[in-house]
Amino acid sequence: MTDQSHPGGTGRIGAATVARVGYGAMQLFEPSSAEAAAVLRRAVELGVNHIDTASFYGPGEVNRRIRQALAPYPDDLVIVSKVGARYTGEDPVPLAAAQRPAELRAAVEDDLRQLGLDCIPVVNLRRLDLGPGLQPEGDQIVDVDDQIAEMVALRDEGKIGAIGISAVPLDVVQRALPAGIVCVQNPYSLLDRSQEATLDLCATEGVAWVPYFPLGSAFPGFPKVADNPVVAEIAGELGVTGAQVGLAWLLAHAPNTLLIPGTRSIAHLEENRGAASVTLSADALARLDAVGATEPQPHGVQPFRR
Ligand SMILES: NC(=O)c1ccc[n+]([C@@H]2O[C@H](COP(=O)([O-])OP(=O)(O)OC[C@H]3O[C@@H](n4cnc5c(N)ncnc54)[C@H](OP(=O)(O)O)[C@@H]3O)[C@@H](O)[C@H]2O)c1
Repeated sequence: MTDQSHPGGTGRIGAATVARVGYGAMQLFEPSSAEAAAVLRRAVELGVNHIDTASFYGPGEVNRRIRQALAPYPDDLVIVSKVGARYTGEDPVPLAAAQRPAELRAAVEDDLRQLGLDCIPVVNLRRLDLGPGLQPEGDQIVDVDDQIAEMVALRDEGKIGAIGISAVPLDVVQRALPAGIVCVQNPYSLLDRSQEATLDLCATEGVAWVPYFPLGSAFPGFPKVADNPVVAEIAGELGVTGAQVGLAWLLAHAPNTLLIPGTRSIAHLEENRGAASVTLSADALARLDAVGATEPQPHGVQPFRR
């Protein structure tokens, strides 16, 4: 699976081949635009060709920064966006649900304009089925079939290249599969294995599994993978960092996994890319596997099984 330009190997997201370690741009509205551009350009230099974004990051600022830093885009770059929320700027959560089909379409139009693209390669339908975060109410409770129909229409019109789905339990993935979804983005990490059954389904169906919060997220109060004592112990044994152990475990755990760790730091970006070169022994993998079985499972209700 490993080649020189994409260390750690490549994986598939629909028809596209991407390096398995990509980049999540969610936090890139926080630093200066020059710092954000430096991170994005370094990512591409390091062989990252899968970048995750959304029009509601910023608002629109992350998309605009991606365009400013990277356009004209490299031919092999797969930009993946998401629809289902809109930016409000309010505290404490600056987002509101935007789940209705017309709102999904409007968000794709925002992506096209902000990114300067004629077609967004992949767009995730970001549902609100898994906590924490926004809860849908009133007319924001929308049947997934109606949403998928709109996503298919957008794909038929050539505005999006492929459809993904996000923050969804197993049964919703099953309902979306006939539309030809190419990826599932759910919260998942060494510490949060609650979506294991959905990962298994994706592996069976050849659908890319793109976990968000792969390091435990940027949010305070969420357990961080690198802080886990078993992770720290194995990192010490291998002379690598805890973040690298957590990412290497994700890569080793399932071949359909593609990573989009988020960072504002070039040093962390380089470290995260380096995770693709970390080899975990069978003993280390077994010790790490056991960690997930004992952690509280915050996202969703499916029990850890394996
Ligand atoms: N579909 C969805 O609903 C959804 C939801 C959330 C996120 N996402 C996507 O998933 C991506 C990843 O999720 P995330 O960014 O929330 O969480 P994450 O990747 O688990 O963690 C990001 C946090 O880890 C830190 N970090 C990154 N690399 C590190 C390293 N090598 N050592 C130590 N700390 C490190 C970052 O801080 P520094 O900036 O200081 O490095 C940041 O605080 C996002 O960027 C976004 O694109 C999707």
